[in-house]
Amino acid sequence: MAHVTVTAPINIAFIKYWGKRAGGETLILPTNDSFSITLSTEPFRSKTSVVLTDKIAEDELWLNGKKSDFASTARLTNVLETVRATSPPELAKLKAFIVSENNFPTAAGMASSASGYCALASALVRAFQSTADVSVLSRIGSGSACRSAYGGFVKWLMGKEEDGSDCRAVQYVDHTHWPEMQVLCAVLKGEQKDVSSTKGMQLSLQTSPMMKDRIETIVPARMEEISKAVTERNFDKFAEITMIDSDDLQQVCATTIPKVQYATEDSYAMIRLIHAFNKAKGKRVLAYTFDAGANCFMFTLKENIAEVIAVLLHHFPTADESLCFNDTSLVASYKAVEVA
Ligand code: DP6
Repeated sequence: MAHVTVTAPINIAFIKYWGKRAGGETLILPTNDSFSITLSTEPFRSKTSVVLTDKIAEDELWLNGKKSDFASTARLTNVLETVRATSPPELAKLKAFIVSENNFPTAAGMASSASGYCALASALVRAFQSTADVSVLSRIGSGSACRSAYGGFVKWLMGKEEDGSDCRAVQYVDHTHWPEMQVLCAVLKGEQKDVSSTKGMQLSLQTSPMMKDRIETIVPARMEEISKAVTERNFDKFAEITMIDSDDLQQVCATTIPKVQYATEDSYAMIRLIHAFNKAKGKRVLAYTFDAGANCFMFTLKENIAEVIAVLLHHFPTADESLCFNDTSLVASYKAVEVA
């Protein structure tokens, strides 16, 4: 009986994916390139186990202790079909019993679908001995997941082909390129968000007047500029562009009909604090980025970690229950995460 367990990391985009081109929810091809950092699997990770068996009638997925409705989740079915089509027949005919768990809030704008689908794709490929590419398979589960298949600084290139054959994630540089880079997370809201990323980006593409320029000119220029900043390890520039792109995503959501809002008062307070801190330092030493959620991911360099954590703790003390990550204290949430 084949049995595989895999853990996969989250990745945090500093140039955001927000919109799908032709191919829709099946191929998941983005309207623009995106760029992210893959984190180490500590403290956030998804863990997925797969057993292939002829003892169950249908594939089963248990996510965070609850059985998922496989049949109604087209993406899961799509992933499984793709795996079976690329596996030896004697394995393809077996059913998959899948157990998956995230050790951090799910669907709260913390990239759980990225680590989740990457762990699932990787575990299935191994269990079924499939020849499918893990990153491509992750993508058809959830777009941003394709970047979690690679370490370090990763680009997801949108490609131009209708069949998605030139749409792929590539490692730009590995984690040793910029070892001083650290990522922090403040879990400001652990609950599941009201509007999923999938839904939010569909609405934005249909209704936000900002999307056209974002797709056609703004993101291509930003990708070029931030690539140079990463190559040169220019943190000030990296921070500037990262925060602008995060702000843009919030603006796109604000100009979407009906308006989509993921940020909370705490998120805005965090943004103000980070700008004030950078101003006091006379240069950008801390950058924020928000996905489709209220939670704040931050980038800084190792030399600033002690000071940054002190400032964050001073303004967002652990006493505030809403700031706590599960049962661990806020200090755990502020733990710096390595790029991996
Ligand atoms: C804001 O990858 O979750 O995190 O492809 O519909 O599953 P689907 O969307 P998803 O969207 C992530 C959007 C984002 C930005 C990013 O990670 O680039």
